[in-house]
Amino acid sequence: MKEKWWKKSVIYQIYPKSFKDSNGDGIGDLNGIIEKIDYLADLGIDVIWLCPINVSPMMDNGYDIADYYNVDPVFGTNEDFERLIACAKERGIKILMDLVVNHCSNQHKWFQEAVKNPEGEYAGYFLIEETSGKEPNNIRCYNGTSAWERIGESNRFYFHSFSKEQPDLNWANPNVRQEIIRMMKFWQKKGIAGFRIDAIGNIKKTKEALAQTILPTDGTDGMVSVDKYVLMQDGIEAYLAELRDEVFERYDMFTVAEVSVPEGKMEEFVGEHGFFSTVFDFSYTDMDVEKSNGKEWKKRFTIREMREKIFASQNMIEKYGWGSPYLENHDQPRSVNKYIPEESIGYESKTALGALYFFLRGTPFIYQGQELGMENYPFSDISQIRDPFAVQRYEQSVKNGENPQKDMEYFRARGRDNSRTPMQWDESVYAGFSEEEPWIAVNPDYETINAKAERQNDKSVYHFYKKMIALRKQSEYSDVLTYGDFSPIESDEDALIGYYRSNGEKRVAVLVNFGEGEAAIPKQLANGKRILDNQDRWNTERLLPYQAVLIAEGE
Ligand code: GLC
Ligand code: CA
Repeated sequence: MKEKWWKKSVIYQIYPKSFKDSNGDGIGDLNGIIEKIDYLADLGIDVIWLCPINVSPMMDNGYDIADYYNVDPVFGTNEDFERLIACAKERGIKILMDLVVNHCSNQHKWFQEAVKNPEGEYAGYFLIEETSGKEPNNIRCYNGTSAWERIGESNRFYFHSFSKEQPDLNWANPNVRQEIIRMMKFWQKKGIAGFRIDAIGNIKKTKEALAQTILPTDGTDGMVSVDKYVLMQDGIEAYLAELRDEVFERYDMFTVAEVSVPEGKMEEFVGEHGFFSTVFDFSYTDMDVEKSNGKEWKKRFTIREMREKIFASQNMIEKYGWGSPYLENHDQPRSVNKYIPEESIGYESKTALGALYFFLRGTPFIYQGQELGMENYPFSDISQIRDPFAVQRYEQSVKNGENPQKDMEYFRARGRDNSRTPMQWDESVYAGFSEEEPWIAVNPDYETINAKAERQNDKSVYHFYKKMIALRKQSEYSDVLTYGDFSPIESDEDALIGYYRSNGEKRVAVLVNFGEGEAAIPKQLANGKRILDNQDRWNTERLLPYQAVLIAEGE
């Protein structure tokens, strides 16, 4: 196992719009992050993944880039970003940027040129088809509408996997790939340590995706999901190898890709000479969703299923490469609401959930506010929702005569805005995020769940996360918790999830009782040394409800 700086790291994800507003416009910004850099250093994280900060009309909060070379004025300037990189560096913190290159914004000058000039160079930067008047085919984009949008009054249509404001780039065009590589090098030179790579599995399209033919439908709307025609298509490897050889590997960057990779391709993607350092695994973070009629809906699952999914994911990644365990991100609701029954949400259950994922094999990610145990927002009306994908889905339901209240119910449980509400810093108005009304409402629970209160309370989710980070990074168990092998601990207890991390010298058991009742501790662990515990009462035979312990064997 090769040692790499990023294997020992803990990564903290920042959604800039919602982290800290420094200038009273209600929107988070780079100077706000600089103000809070000591908070992050004190927590003990090593790397910040910054969601997009480039110039953008912010239709999708920055995932629609209109200028790859400049920071959006709402977030600050390129100089502010350089200052952030420098002051993070002083504290030993590195920065990852979000690389959004499957698509750009329809406000990008490439796209505007492509629209103006069908014969010009930039028309070839996008996927544009001319027809006799109808959409080229019936592919449905992720937001439920057609993946094709008409250009003005013409019979030309462009392809978009996401919203119509996010035209897909044409990766088959070598000039597009060169532009992207040039841009990546520009930011590398400014001192960033790597990239989180957005929707990268979508970059290669099949012939059918772009053909003028009606494809077999998978819904009552006569359309068919874009997935099958654009995800992980053969030939994508050549594009990814180019990025690896020209940029990632050349500069020893850390890269984490948002892409779901089948086992047969894992070696090529995350193996020793893989395209990426690691990839996100959706298998257990999306286990509460099912798709029907082209839309996602909430689904129930059991703790056993959760255990199986986590173990399968670890076993697979262990075979080929390196993992990136996470519970939350800006596309997910708050994890405590997903995995813990409403009536049991509290300090014990939140820390148990934290311990469960944090010591899995891989580089752990923490999403802003997760370390405080932030919870979902009680959305009740579409007017409170800012996520454009949700709004579009709602409108589409109204248009199709479906009941939009069902969509609202889904958004309440699963909407992306749940994790995009402002970071809760203290008990003052707007939770100390801003002095003015924020762009999205603050969760009403901020008076109890906030960084200031939790820092003052030893028994808080914050302090437990801090302890987990220190244990993983600066203890006699760092090595085994980082590089050690993963193996499941078998048990008949339905609610017990346990695993070992072991190397030649040490073996540490992570045991989490995810149930409402007590659970028997596997006998072989009765005499080990407890090196972390989220509860005060200890009994060598049984774990309390939502008790999580780390036990070092043979000491
Ligand atoms: C990714 C991002 C998401 C964004 C989408 C389109 O899934 O995580 O936030 O909306 O790509 O760029
Ligand atoms: Ca601001």
